[in-house]
Formats: sequence, structure tokens, C-alpha cells
Amino acid sequence: MKNKKILKALRKETQSVPPVWLMRQAGRFLPEYRATRKAMNGFLDLCYTPPKAMEVTLQPITRFHMDAAIIFSDILVIPDALGSDLSFVQGEGPQLSTVTSKADLDALTLDNLHHHLAPVYEAVSLTKAALPDDVTLIGFAGSPWTVATYMVEGKGSKLYENIRRFMYDQPDLFSALIDLITEATIAYLRKKIDAGAEVIQLFDSWAGVLAEVPFIRYVIEPNRKIAEALKSSHPHIPLIGFPKGAGVGYERYIKEVPVDGVSLDFTVPLAWAAERLQPHVCVQGNLDPLLLASNQSAMLTETQRILDMLGNGPFIFNMGHGVIPSTPIENVEAMLKLIRG
Ligand code: CP3
Repeated sequence: MKNKKILKALRKETQSVPPVWLMRQAGRFLPEYRATRKAMNGFLDLCYTPPKAMEVTLQPITRFHMDAAIIFSDILVIPDALGSDLSFVQGEGPQLSTVTSKADLDALTLDNLHHHLAPVYEAVSLTKAALPDDVTLIGFAGSPWTVATYMVEGKGSKLYENIRRFMYDQPDLFSALIDLITEATIAYLRKKIDAGAEVIQLFDSWAGVLAEVPFIRYVIEPNRKIAEALKSSHPHIPLIGFPKGAGVGYERYIKEVPVDGVSLDFTVPLAWAAERLQPHVCVQGNLDPLLLASNQSAMLTETQRILDMLGNGPFIFNMGHGVIPSTPIENVEAMLKLIRG
């Protein structure tokens, strides 16, 4: 069995110095990322150029010696591979053709999935070969609900009105969309594992906008299907779930989805997580990314509180959501120094 710190935590070992990595650690807060990105023909070009995707995946490892590398890609490569028309507009985030009718859904296909995503698999195997021995390689996908929000809304959303209307008005069609994304995600993650990913994280970033019944149907069920499929084909690969914003729904999530770890958003109370979640799974989290980008001494106080509250069980230090572009490098260094003692 491998002795990497991330893998030990996911095997539910308590460690005096917890492993640490940061969601969105390979990204715009790093000057070396911005330099690599500028030389490319857009964000997707970077995702689909394996040596460049490897280069940016390794940047936070070289600079900060993080305990995990997360393969540089995006959750929206799945709709892209299914045939959605995807672009990243500078300063505006992703834009996609929308799926709102049966004809839109019928136009999507699994036929080109692996051909389209071959550069991602190649980036995984290149990165795996280049990675230091003590660093764990994490592969990821968006969970079906979160990926569907972009496919139905056509962009990022604040209220998710179009998708929630679609889900209530056309439940059969919406279920078919969720099933299609679920099937694509399982096939995609199996290939990523075969290429060298040692842990898989499922990002359900917008899980927190659903009422109880659709939360069960569109968050719990698809995540469970994906996790069960991966556990049956690759039982030794640990899984981390991130049902962001799920509140007390986190408890149902860890009971019904066979994950080894759960990523806590920054609203989850630590004493509650230690009592209700950590006895069952490794917990990961949950510093507020905005705090990491602001007042350094308040950030260190909160980092210490997280260590004190979650460090007595299986734990991976991380953020409660992705690092934001304005984060000062010095703050990340000070945080790591405190964690590592
Ligand atoms: O974590 C990492 O370092 C690995 C790479 C990674 C990216 N996106 C790179 C990226 C990961 C794990 C993601 C996941 C992702 N992408 C999620 C789930 C996690 C979360 O943050 O909730 C979501 C919802 C997306 C969709 C997405 N991609 C949006 C909304 C945007 C635009 C807004 C933004 O944050 O930039 C992206 C673009 C994106 N994905 C960038 C990066 C580095 C910025 C692109 C650029 O260089 O201009």
C-alpha cells in the first residue's frame, strides 16, 4: 500500500500533520499559470494540450509542495465532448449552447467521448510519470446536476431558474439528460483512472440550490451511481465527494454515496462535521477562499481553528471552494507554514 499522505487520510488514518492541497490550485492566482495561459490560444486549448496541461498541473507542486496535484482540466469538457458548443469568454466565464428540448438532447452523443477526451487522458499519464513519489494525482469530474446547470442555463447562474423549471416541467427529458451525463462521467473517470489518476473528486458545486426531493433525485442518485460504478470497476481508488452547499444534506450524502472522503464547503460548522461526518469518512476543507485572499492574521486564526477542530481524525486541509485569482502568494505560504508546523 502506498504511503502518500492523501491516501493515508482517505484510508481514515489520523496524521499529526495533515496533507494539504487547494481546490483550483492550478490557476489564475499563480503568475506562472498566467504566463503559460497567455501563450495559448484560450483556456480550452490549454486543457487539450497535454504537455501544457501537465505543466500547469505541476506548478503548485513545484512552488508549494502540495500533497496532491489535481489534473488541469475543467468540468465542462464533458458537455464539450457530448457535442455542446462551448467557449470561454475572457472575463465572462463559460458559454454553452443550451439544452431545453428533446431535439437538443438528441443532438448530443456519447460516440466521440473518448476520442474528444484523449488529450485529457494523455495529460494524466504524462503528469503521473513526472510527479514526485509522495504526491497523489487527483482526477475529477463535475457531478451531473452541476454540469447540467451549465448545459441548461448556457452559462454560470445565480438563481438556476431555467434548469429548475425544466426539471419540474419536463422531468422525463431532464432525467434523460442527467442519465446521459452520468454515463459519460463514468466512462470518462474510468479512463482517467486507467491513465494514472489515484483519487477521484466529484464536484457538485451547485448541489445547494435544490429542494429536498430533487436533491435526492439529482444529487444523491447520480453521485451514488457514479461512485458505485467506480467502486465496482476500480475498488482500490478512493473517492471524494463535494456536495457544496448541501447543509444537513451532507449527512445523507455520505450515507448513500460510497465516498471515502467528503469536501466541506466553508459554511459547514466544524463541530457538527467532526461529530456527524468524520466518524464515517475523511473530511476535507474548509477555509473560506475570500479569507485566504484578505486579512492574513484572521486567516491564520481560522486555519488554526480548522486544524484544532478537524485534526483529531482523518483530515485533508483544503479550501471551502476554489482559490480566487486575487489570492496573495504570501498568504498561501503563511497558511502552509502554519499547517506544516
Ligand atoms: O483545481 C484545479 O486547479 C484544477 C483545475 C480546475 C479548473 N476548473 C480549471 C479552471 C477544476 C477542478 C475546475 C472545476 C470547475 N470548473 C468547477 C467545479 C469547482 C468549482 O469551482 O465549483 C466548475 C463549476 C467549473 C466551471 C468553470 N470553469 C467556470 C465557472 C469557469 C469560469 C470562472 C472561473 O472561475 O474562472 C471556469 C474556468 C476555469 N476553470 C479556469 C480555470 C483555471 C479559469 C480559466 C482561465 O484561465 O481564464
